[in-house]
Amino acid sequence: MPLVPPYIESLRPYEAGRAIEEVRREFGIQYVSKLGSNENPLGSSPLALEAITKSLDSLHLYPNGGLDLRRVLAEKFDLKIGNVIAGSGSEGIMSNIIRTFLCDEDEVLTTEAAFIGFQVLAKSRGVKYRTVPYRDWHYDLAALAGAINERTKIIYLANPNNPTGTIFSKHEFDEFYKHVPERVLIILDEAYFEYAKDNPRYPDSMHYRYDNVITLRTFSKVYGLAGVRIGYGFAHEDLIANLLKVKLPFEPSSVAQAAGIAALADKEFLHRSLELNARGLEFLTRALRDSGLKVVPSEANFVMIVLPGSDQANQLTRELLMQGIIVRPLASFGLPNCIRISTGTDEDNQRLVQAINKSAALVS
Ligand SMILES: Cc1ncc(COP(=O)(O)O)c(C=O)c1O
Repeated sequence: MPLVPPYIESLRPYEAGRAIEEVRREFGIQYVSKLGSNENPLGSSPLALEAITKSLDSLHLYPNGGLDLRRVLAEKFDLKIGNVIAGSGSEGIMSNIIRTFLCDEDEVLTTEAAFIGFQVLAKSRGVKYRTVPYRDWHYDLAALAGAINERTKIIYLANPNNPTGTIFSKHEFDEFYKHVPERVLIILDEAYFEYAKDNPRYPDSMHYRYDNVITLRTFSKVYGLAGVRIGYGFAHEDLIANLLKVKLPFEPSSVAQAAGIAALADKEFLHRSLELNARGLEFLTRALRDSGLKVVPSEANFVMIVLPGSDQANQLTRELLMQGIIVRPLASFGLPNCIRISTGTDEDNQRLVQAINKSAALVS
């Protein structure tokens, strides 16, 4: 037996979006617009920053495994604490789910080009990873239901989806759910929930609980806390109890937990962030379409553009980088002709559109 299992040897590691410093160094540009990782262009919630400072007094003590945040979330969403888990980002919880529920012979089912973080985590477990194509850049829930077999253990759905930004409705989900056996766990990844929640077509999964569904949410996006790693999940208490057995006991960190609790109370920051995003989304969608690009309508904090081929996508990504704008080429997700662009500040969004309009990649 080799030291490294073949499914790890062949795994492509998670490729994060480019960092600002790296682009500054490589291209000698001072001002860089980071529109590649769906972060909050306003920074972090000020209340969270205050709480982080206060939490520094107790850094010598072990944290309590997210208990305080679980309590606050249970109260806010009118649940029992046993229905809530907190972790190092929603990806921390996803990793926990994969370790807790998957056995060697199980299979994972999701859409093609799903969120790269999930792809890497699931494939690292060495189980069979099956996908179904998109239908017009939306989940094809009917095809997913049809693809369930006796080995399917986990179905991963992101709503809104990354990288397409599209959503499915409660009706669509309910139709799908009728075909899902109880022994299958559905991960409902709602990392972009806050951006979509006012859309009447968007289902708030807190209003319909199913015993085999775990909802994941994060503080990384609208609360601007991607750097501290804090996320949470809701599920039936039996699922949570088993996840808690496997979870790293001191995850999340005390700093992350304090930041999350404070961020939840920061209505003003939430409001400003959502307003800026709604404006940015509308502007980018319209301006990029006016530039002749195919833009997938989005309910999140980014848009996906579809180019004629991978050459144009690579060239455009490179030209934007040279002008100090980081976007996310989607080859690593499995969509080599697509690029994902996060909403930025109003200035960032305008810079991006101006740069796109100058691009040779789109003229040739
Ligand atoms: C769909 C989706 N889920 C989860 C995450 C990761 O969130 P976290 O920072 O909470 O791990 C992201 C981040 O980009 C995402 O797009």
